[in-house]
Amino acid sequence: MTFTLGIVGAGQFAGQFAKLFAAHPQISAVHVTDVLPERAEALAGRLGLAGTYPSFGAMLDDDGLDAVAIFTQRWTHGPLVVEALRAGKHVYSAVPMAISEGEVAEIIEAVRESGLTYMMGETSYYNPATVYARRRHHEGAFGRIFYAEGDYVHDMDLGFYEAYQYSGGADWKRTASYPPMLYPTHSVGGVLGAIGGHAVSVSCIGVPDERGDGVFDRGVSMFGNDFSNATALFELAGGGSMRINEFRRVGYPSHVRESRFRYFGTEGSFEQLVESAVWQDREGFEDVSAQLRAERAVDLDDPSLADVAPALREAFVSGLAPVHDAGRLPAELRGLPNGHEGSHHFLVDDFATAVVNGTLPAVNAWEAARYTLPGIAAHESALRGGERIPVADFGDAPAAPGSRGLAAEAPREAVQERR
Ligand SMILES: NC(=O)c1ccc[n+]([C@@H]2O[C@H](COP(=O)([O-])OP(=O)(O)OC[C@H]3O[C@@H](n4cnc5c(N)ncnc54)[C@H](O)[C@@H]3O)[C@@H](O)[C@H]2O)c1
Repeated sequence: MTFTLGIVGAGQFAGQFAKLFAAHPQISAVHVTDVLPERAEALAGRLGLAGTYPSFGAMLDDDGLDAVAIFTQRWTHGPLVVEALRAGKHVYSAVPMAISEGEVAEIIEAVRESGLTYMMGETSYYNPATVYARRRHHEGAFGRIFYAEGDYVHDMDLGFYEAYQYSGGADWKRTASYPPMLYPTHSVGGVLGAIGGHAVSVSCIGVPDERGDGVFDRGVSMFGNDFSNATALFELAGGGSMRINEFRRVGYPSHVRESRFRYFGTEGSFEQLVESAVWQDREGFEDVSAQLRAERAVDLDDPSLADVAPALREAFVSGLAPVHDAGRLPAELRGLPNGHEGSHHFLVDDFATAVVNGTLPAVNAWEAARYTLPGIAAHESALRGGERIPVADFGDAPAAPGSRGLAAEAPREAVQERR
């Protein structure tokens, strides 16, 4: 059983994934569209994709296309995802899920009503530290986890100026001020992706920027935002707390490691820094850094990185770490570019498996909401001077989502006939 996929947005990130989607044995053809058609043409040409569409609408109108993967700018995902689900397409979305509670609610409603697959491509779910902590948590080694920390530490000077210029054109400063807490999934996702649960309330402090270069200037920002760093403390359901840092002005080598995690339990704890990680209990500690170190998958000058700012490339070349379960991945992905500490291959495989089998992916709509909503509330709290406010929650994913997996929908021959 195979399906066809359309990539929406042929910018800096999409190329990495287009190549993997095209190589996946359950995806028969990959198409692409971009509001800048030359970008779609260039990507299709470079990777030998099946073709391009003149617009997102034209892509949705094609009954022969089963799924879309959205790689547009970070504040645009919500409405595009809903439109695609309403048009009957399974949806993979780059992070974040959305930028308002209303948009998240609409996606969940559309997933529930359509029975289609929605998955958010949260790279930190397969971050080696998250994978390690998830395993230790399932073993019970932490005891009760009562406190955890997630940091997404990415300095603007390390590639983000170039990335926003590529992305936003002449108007790039309006968008480069994107509020840090509206991009919370690489920190929250690595905490909740390991320990489960959800946030119930938050108090957040935003740090107004002082660079004075027009980025993070409220008068210029389309988000009216001047925070470049923010720190939030969350209360978790069932007790316990989670501290999240989203930093964009910070003296730190984000190209070496941009997401970092710490988890504290009554029986054991785990702490990670830029190049080291330790497991600790009452008796002592074990250096687990080597288990978490991702090998390099391709060189920094790999052609697939042509559109990626040089300072961002390091994140796109990291392959699997020893802690990863490489055996569950299809052989066709082996040796291909990976990225974000080995997570890309798992995300592509999770989506393909969910679409074909009609199973819930790990980062389904309900889980994605739990990685996204805390940041939306945190930003609101920061705007209100750190006032403690509730975090919305849409509950656990339904045990039987009633998903319309392709395998359940039609026999193989019938699906192929439609193309
Ligand atoms: N670790 C990660 O998970 C990670 C890393 C990098 C980027 N991302 C996410 O990937 C997404 C893409 O990032 P990027 O750096 O490639 O952005 P980008 O700005 O380089 O590319 C976005 C592309 O989408 C196109 N586009 C916008 N609206 C469109 C529409 N309606 N129809 C068709 N095309 C449209 C733009 O023209 C542009 O070419 C972002 O949401 C970002 O948050 C995630």
